[in-house]
Amino acid sequence: MRNVELKARDPDPARTLERSLALGAEDRGELVQRDTYFARSRGRLKLREQEPGGAELIAYVRPDGEAARVSAYERAPVGDAAALRRALDAALGTTVVVAKRRRLLLWDGVRIHLDEVEELGSFVELEAVAPEDSDLGAERAKVERLRAELAIEDAALVAVGYSDLLLDPDEALLRAADAAMRNAYVPYSGFKVGAALRAPSGVIYTGANVENAAYPQSQCAEASALGALVAAGETAFVEAAVVAERIDLCPPCGGCRQRLSELGGLETRVHLGRPGGPRRTVTLGELLPLSFGSKDLA
Ligand code: THU
Repeated sequence: MRNVELKARDPDPARTLERSLALGAEDRGELVQRDTYFARSRGRLKLREQEPGGAELIAYVRPDGEAARVSAYERAPVGDAAALRRALDAALGTTVVVAKRRRLLLWDGVRIHLDEVEELGSFVELEAVAPEDSDLGAERAKVERLRAELAIEDAALVAVGYSDLLLDPDEALLRAADAAMRNAYVPYSGFKVGAALRAPSGVIYTGANVENAAYPQSQCAEASALGALVAAGETAFVEAAVVAERIDLCPPCGGCRQRLSELGGLETRVHLGRPGGPRRTVTLGELLPLSFGSKDLA
């Protein structure tokens, strides 16, 4: 079997649902799915346990890429999911589990998935299943038409699977920054920022911006995260992420570049972006060339 499919972050699932229904999509209701991915397989191998619906083992190959992609797959129904999960885990090892709620809609042979993925957030997926003899032209055209109708922007496209997003350590740092950002205290600017720092121990420390009625007393997210790291007894970080709610890439302010440079190295990577979204990775050295530091005091 083959699919043409597209995945994107969905900032407004209620609007996507409304637009899909307005196009005449048929609402097939909500599914709870738990996918267990196994290691050492050619391509990908996952056991899908679904409520309602039962379980199946799915093997598939799909190139990564942002636009509509073709996926080739095999599905095998499973009777005793728990036993198979244990057997495959023992033989191959489990890499990651993806748990989600999926609202399924059908539009002209295209499956529309409104997914709420644990730890990752809201996504929309479009999947056109291709008949065996199809050259995939019609399926691509349908996915593109639906994409336009649902106003899925380029910046929202996601090039990889949910399992990749969960496994990628850079994504984990962006997710931590994103979670902190949601708690930002920003009654004056309304501009939420979150930062996450990975210490050499592997522990991730986070911070959000904290504003003040006496405006200059406000504190940036990076400063908050550095404070959390130091309060926990650490004195360095090896990687950082900064996430803002209102812009795709939030460049750290000049002052924070100086603050970060105190406890990070010239080569320390800083990820700017959003979980699952486009990302720009720069080093502290690139952010703050010719910086003043402890070396100059010595
Ligand atoms: N802000 C940060 O938290 N980090 C930065 O690097 C850029 C700016 C905050 C400060 C203020 O609360 C809001 O964003 C608007 O400037």
